[in-house]
Amino acid sequence: MSISLSINGEHHDLDAPGDMPLLWALREVAGLTGTKYGCGIGVCGACTVHLDGAAERSCLLPVGEVGARAVTTIEGLGGTGLHPVQQAWVAADIPQCGYCQPGFVMQVADLLANNPGLGDDEIVAAVSNVCRCGTYPRMRGAIAEAR
Ligand code: FES
Repeated sequence: MSISLSINGEHHDLDAPGDMPLLWALREVAGLTGTKYGCGIGVCGACTVHLDGAAERSCLLPVGEVGARAVTTIEGLGGTGLHPVQQAWVAADIPQCGYCQPGFVMQVADLLANNPGLGDDEIVAAVSNVCRCGTYPRMRGAIAEAR
């Protein structure tokens, strides 16, 4: 089955079953491996992408239900450069193993863009993603820098 998607501003026709989670369609069919698999049950946030600019956990969403919504992955977040959140993450040297970080960046980018009234601590509290290396303290400073 061919499924048409807009991913990072480009049209893709993906040969995937409609019930395949978007996460696997991105990774295994589109070859965009920046989006990570962690839990597969919507808890850890490693698979976070944007749909029309809003964060979504791609492990739970069948690719056939994406429709005309624009998908943005970590590869396309900053366009031709790094997004301000990515720049702040690099400057603060946040990643340890790095596996979960794309999901964090996508989640924080959504919160900063769509909830401008939130304070830094409120953003930290709103991010339910999981980092097993415990990089949370460095993220606080980076979130403030990314504003
Ligand atoms: Fe999707 Fe954990 S892999 S939330």
